[in-house]
Amino acid sequence: MKIAVIGANGQLGSDISEEFKKSGFEVIELNHSDIEISDLDSVSNVLQSIKAGIVINTAAMHNVEKCEAEPAASFSINAIGARNLAMVCNDAASVLVHISTDYVFDGKKHSPYVEADKTAPLNVYGNTKVSGEQFVEAIAKKYFVVRTSGIYGRNPCRAKEGLNFTELMLKLAIEKPEIRVVNDEFLTPTSTKEVSRQMVSLIKTDAWGLYHATAEGSCSWYEFAKKIFELSSIKTNLNIANPDEFPMKVPRPKYSVLENENLKKLGINIFKKWDHGLKEYIESRQAH
Ligand SMILES: NC(=O)c1ccc[n+]([C@@H]2O[C@H](COP(=O)([O-])OP(=O)(O)OC[C@H]3O[C@@H](n4cnc5c(N)ncnc54)[C@H](OP(=O)(O)O)[C@@H]3O)[C@@H](O)[C@H]2O)c1
Repeated sequence: MKIAVIGANGQLGSDISEEFKKSGFEVIELNHSDIEISDLDSVSNVLQSIKAGIVINTAAMHNVEKCEAEPAASFSINAIGARNLAMVCNDAASVLVHISTDYVFDGKKHSPYVEADKTAPLNVYGNTKVSGEQFVEAIAKKYFVVRTSGIYGRNPCRAKEGLNFTELMLKLAIEKPEIRVVNDEFLTPTSTKEVSRQMVSLIKTDAWGLYHATAEGSCSWYEFAKKIFELSSIKTNLNIANPDEFPMKVPRPKYSVLENENLKKLGINIFKKWDHGLKEYIESRQAH
């Protein structure tokens, strides 16, 4: 089976490409220089020539501050881009897998969000991702919308100057005498390797729909940082930041933990507790 991965040199796209190749799929890797998802002609020309049975879209404008400053550009990539892909996938009878985010929620629930929970985004990024989901759900005949959160992977995140949170902490440990991290915002750190493996098993079903795909459990950003240093055997001066020490320029959910309810209903949830994927990541990093 031929699969096209859009955003293939990104943090998630690179692991998706690798995991699908390992599982025997023929993977066509598409980078931004190959396709512009906000342009219907580009999407149509590229995908019609490839004729992939499955198209996986990891491409997005997801730098939250940049989205807030450029809402039209953000909408044209995150929403119109998803609509273009849904239309062209229908024409080619391809399955569309579209990646979305925990930022579709406002964080006021304080218990893990399930797929049936109502979205209530707090910022432009979240709003445009909700719109993208809605375009896919309304247009695509065969689709998976996969929401993930707090991802980190071996290939640097292109929208965040190559630094995911884990790499940022390891960099700060070298550069700073003290590291201060907030302890009142909660997430589920999730390894892109695990998301990619989960997508290989999901794609083998035809249970089209919306899925949450994150590691199990949750932690604060401070607890995440503490575990990164513990697993890396790095001694550093890590402290809890005061609640208002890092005022947010753009509102973000303070609690964005997702429950993989639909994967569990299908009996295919592969995720383990969040520190399991982190241990694998740190070990692979040290091995290289
Ligand atoms: N990072 C997180 O913590 C997080 C959390 C939840 C969900 N997500 C979602 O996960 C997905 C992947 O994130 P990531 O961290 O892997 O991102 P990333 O490393 O920034 O990779 C994104 C990829 O998409 C490409 N791209 C951007 N705009 C494009 C466009 N208009 N047309 C075609 N390609 C384009 C980028 O190419 P260039 O860099 O060359 O432009 C890059 O290859 C996104 O949908 C994001 O919303 C991320």
